[in-house]
Amino acid sequence: MAMNYSEKVMDHFQNPRNVGKIENADGVGEVGNAKCGDIMKIYLKIDDGIITDVKFNTFGCASAIATSSMATELIKGKPVSEALKLTNQAVVEALDGLPPVKIHCSVLAEEAVKAAVKDYYDKNGIEYDPAEFADSGCDHCCRCD
Ligand code: FES
Repeated sequence: MAMNYSEKVMDHFQNPRNVGKIENADGVGEVGNAKCGDIMKIYLKIDDGIITDVKFNTFGCASAIATSSMATELIKGKPVSEALKLTNQAVVEALDGLPPVKIHCSVLAEEAVKAAVKDYYDKNGIEYDPAEFADSGCDHCCRCD
């Protein structure tokens, strides 16, 4: 089925920003969608609570790649606390929207960022409110089947 993707989605899919891996990353988050098998991994470099570098690897659909790319752009240079507030809706808005059946793909990006921040907190013994990492409620609801 042909999808109507915005220009920004096509741009971030065809020229994804911040692709790759950070050696000795301060935080790494990996999330997967059990149904479609898409996997997203995000690496964070953090200095003094600021995300100074971020890279991602996503094995997945066009929307998963575009949302990962945009999510990394949105959190780069930001305080960790702000990255934690990144929602999939904010990523979708920044991409000028996604087709409704693809919205769930953007949830992967939000969850991967949160998982990477949690990893950073855990590694550094930083206390946090577990509620901040509560399930987004989507339970990786892939509708690609
Ligand atoms: Fe995009 Fe499943 S995450 S099709």
